[in-house]
Amino acid sequence: MNAAAIQPYALLDDQECEQRIRRARQVLGERLVILGHHYQRDEVFQHADFTGDSLKLSRQAAGTKAEYIVFCGVHFMAEVADILTRTDQVSILPDLAAGCSMADMADLQHVEKAWKELGEVLDPDEHVTPVTYINSAADLKAFCGEHGGIVCTSTNARHVLDWSFEHREKVLFFPDQHLGRNTGYTMGIPLEQMVVWDYDKPMGGLTAEQIRQAKIILWKGFCSVHQMFQPEQIDNFKQKYPETIVIAHPESPFEVCRKADFVGSTEYIIKTIAEGKPGSRWLVATELNMVNRLHDQHKAEGTNVHFMSPNVCMCSTMFRIDPQHLTWVLENLVDGVAVNQVSVPENTAELARLALNRMLEVSP
Ligand code: 13P
Ligand code: SF4
Repeated sequence: MNAAAIQPYALLDDQECEQRIRRARQVLGERLVILGHHYQRDEVFQHADFTGDSLKLSRQAAGTKAEYIVFCGVHFMAEVADILTRTDQVSILPDLAAGCSMADMADLQHVEKAWKELGEVLDPDEHVTPVTYINSAADLKAFCGEHGGIVCTSTNARHVLDWSFEHREKVLFFPDQHLGRNTGYTMGIPLEQMVVWDYDKPMGGLTAEQIRQAKIILWKGFCSVHQMFQPEQIDNFKQKYPETIVIAHPESPFEVCRKADFVGSTEYIIKTIAEGKPGSRWLVATELNMVNRLHDQHKAEGTNVHFMSPNVCMCSTMFRIDPQHLTWVLENLVDGVAVNQVSVPENTAELARLALNRMLEVSP
């Protein structure tokens, strides 16, 4: 059967999509599971069977028996779902253009080049554990699997770094420098021992001495959404509301996380605010759709949830998953057609699974 094209679906209004999504879900029953990341817009999020941060959703994917896993999130998440499930299960991303700009900042070619260049100073396979943030392509996870490395998420970065240092004395951390730095600092690693590898420069722009002294070599990547949060925004807000509690995602810059009362994953932020006192005031450094939802959920109890940046900080790639694309992929599944399947070649998946399973074993 031929896949219906997206074009006619693009003309549907959200209400019609909602009804058609519900109908398709009824027909597909337990053959389908919809996973929704916290950054998804409400019109999509409401249809998720399970919601969560990257770690929680990876575990959901690994544990599901459903034939179809429709991942309302970004590309690396659907890849992880494919890697952690049986070969007869199908992982679908409603819009294949929903990537992650941070994940795109590291690719296999540049990481292999870095590994080779580090080899001019020390034997990386003996001294360096490669750690990739889950926000990365499958072949980088495979690289970590092959070189005794591991994957981390914002929830388990501390556990993963502990594990890494038990095996080798240094870490090459990619692609997010902020998560690496923020986590390393809370472990007591001084900033001077966390150097930035500029992948556009020979030897990452570092001297042999800097590499020898480093505990963590941080890839020069960042999230363009979280990069927008600044420590001055906290100071300005607190001038007006001094009682404010500040909570930040660890992809935020170091100075923001230093000033925050709490730092953690999307799931952690949701849980911490839910456990806060009614009537409390929160300033939150993470994606806009999630903060707006928290604001709406807590306003009845008098709790105020504010977004940290005065500028819009939406994840535009997460936003690509809309009700129209969700309707499109679900109705095709009803017709027996898997559109926008994300499939990782088995030789890559096997090595990536090694690194992902190491992560799942050390995760809290
Ligand atoms: P979480 O795992 O905390 O949900 O983070 C994923 C992400 O992409 C944040 O930008
Ligand atoms: Fe990637 Fe940043 Fe979007 Fe998260 S918020 S998916 S890190 S671009």
